[in-house]
Amino acid sequence: MIWYIMSLWLLLEQGTYIPDLRSDTSTQTYVWPDHGLNDIYYTPSFLISIPTHQSLLPTESIQLRIDALQSLVRMSNAIYNDLWLPLIVISAYRSHNYQQNLINQFGDGNLRALPGHSEHQLGLAIDIMGLSNAHMEGDGDASRIYQRLVGHGHEYGRHNSYQNGLTVDGYYVEKRHRRYLGVPFATLLKTKNQTLTQYFYQMIRPIDTHGYIHTNPTHIFQSRITPTPIYRPSQPDTTPPRDNPSNESVDRSNELFTKPL
Ligand code: DAL
Ligand code: ZN
Repeated sequence: MIWYIMSLWLLLEQGTYIPDLRSDTSTQTYVWPDHGLNDIYYTPSFLISIPTHQSLLPTESIQLRIDALQSLVRMSNAIYNDLWLPLIVISAYRSHNYQQNLINQFGDGNLRALPGHSEHQLGLAIDIMGLSNAHMEGDGDASRIYQRLVGHGHEYGRHNSYQNGLTVDGYYVEKRHRRYLGVPFATLLKTKNQTLTQYFYQMIRPIDTHGYIHTNPTHIFQSRITPTPIYRPSQPDTTPPRDNPSNESVDRSNELFTKPL
């Protein structure tokens, strides 16, 4: 009944398009620090290695789901045609165990998802160069590519789930991260100027958890987004101090992005 009401509301709100945020195999699967995969050991059934091409340079042997890869190839070709720059991909699919090893080695630092909670485990997400958020600013090559992704990534189904900071998206801003959502949903979020988490909390969770439609989902969203700090350093000496987790103006990227995410 709840799902029936929810579907009806979504139909009224955004036409005929209804994303599937629940299934592990969906291209729109929603994961967040407190909202993991149904099967935390989920592995996509079909992964393909990212090919090396003049427009696309994986830094190592890394894989994606085929739908995410097809869109990536189209996107990198378009970028190359316009900017004459290859898209350097430094991370893509990451298994549960791979993610666990990252956490064991570096802690999460509010930048790395726990195993079973990462968009990378879906086989849908990529991280592009450069290493830090600062690399994406100014007028360097990484910045030109970043601007292109911001303006046109949705045309290739891409979305940056981590663009508004810890208290909104559950992680610090990570400009290099792009996940595949499919063109209709990525375009919808771009139009609404929302991240996936904002959409989830505004559109889905108020109904899902309370059984009725809140007249002011924004209020619910704001009152609920109080992420529990999940700083679990396994090597306290090598991980940076946690100054003020809710202060979005603190740019910790130069410390943290030098380690793999
Ligand atoms: N860096 C993102 C949150 C991840 O680890 O999936
Ligand atoms: Zn990422």
